[in-house]
Amino acid sequence: MHSTGYPPPETEHPGTYDPRTDYPDAMRICETIEDMRAACRAARRGGKRLGFVPTMGALHEGHLSLVRAARASCDIVTASIFVNPTQFGPNEDLAKYPRTFERDRKLLEKEGVELLFAPSVEEMYPVGAAAWVTVEELSDKLDGRSRPGHFRGVTTVVAKLFHIVEPDAAFFGQKDAAQVAVIRRMARDLNFFLEIVACPIVREADGLAMSSRNAYLDPQQRKQALVLYRSLMRVQKLADAGELNAAKLAAAAREEVAGENSVRLDYLEIVDPDTLDSVEDVANGALVAVAAFVGTARLIDNILLPKTAG
Ligand code: PAF
Repeated sequence: MHSTGYPPPETEHPGTYDPRTDYPDAMRICETIEDMRAACRAARRGGKRLGFVPTMGALHEGHLSLVRAARASCDIVTASIFVNPTQFGPNEDLAKYPRTFERDRKLLEKEGVELLFAPSVEEMYPVGAAAWVTVEELSDKLDGRSRPGHFRGVTTVVAKLFHIVEPDAAFFGQKDAAQVAVIRRMARDLNFFLEIVACPIVREADGLAMSSRNAYLDPQQRKQALVLYRSLMRVQKLADAGELNAAKLAAAAREEVAGENSVRLDYLEIVDPDTLDSVEDVANGALVAVAAFVGTARLIDNILLPKTAG
């Protein structure tokens, strides 16, 4: 279904050409809910397994790894690009969030994505929209504590996308570990019949976790941002050497971040990856999650410590 080497139309707006008529072999782009729903239903005919990669665009290798994971286990791969306003707080970066639709479109097409959903804000949130999907408690932990209302926006839009696409499997990056926990809980509690797949963090050669927000960093901040990964590696090393006490591990990581003056720690926590509750020791495995401001960019990273108890 996807195209091979046609000249792409040069436009920054998804609405200016119709791939079905202009480029009949191209990845199909749907801008309306009705179109996307019909296209997904048609794609699933005959029992085909539909994989879905929701994104906010500004794609990097991390997103492409999700697409490849979907490709490897599904017959049809769909993606969405939608910068979801309801998951940004009033003082956050919604206006300046990078929007690179034309580049993203080409990348997805190259990966063989068959269907791309690129709706407008008005399409997703009609005037008077008043319904929300909230995962209580879990949504107020880690990033949810620092970004009030963030996960309510995420779960609302992801629930809407799941209804529209009706995927068999949806792929998310483990970098957003709290998001994965919240979405898994939503899917379980609200009986979404699909598999939630969390894919490993993709890192730059020096360890920095890939993120669309890395685009905000100048070269100096880019170097300073490495302290997030260093702090996690310090925990990893101590845990490998047998330190199981979560408070001691967290203190070592916080000390590492404090060594980088210009980086402001938001949180560093060691928690259960499903409940996001703090753990006392890491013998049963744990999520070590960090968030920090580097300049204006709020970056997150994490590692999963494996279970060591017998
Ligand atoms: O992880 C993201 O990019 C977003 O939170 C998501 C899941 C696409 C919802 O807007």
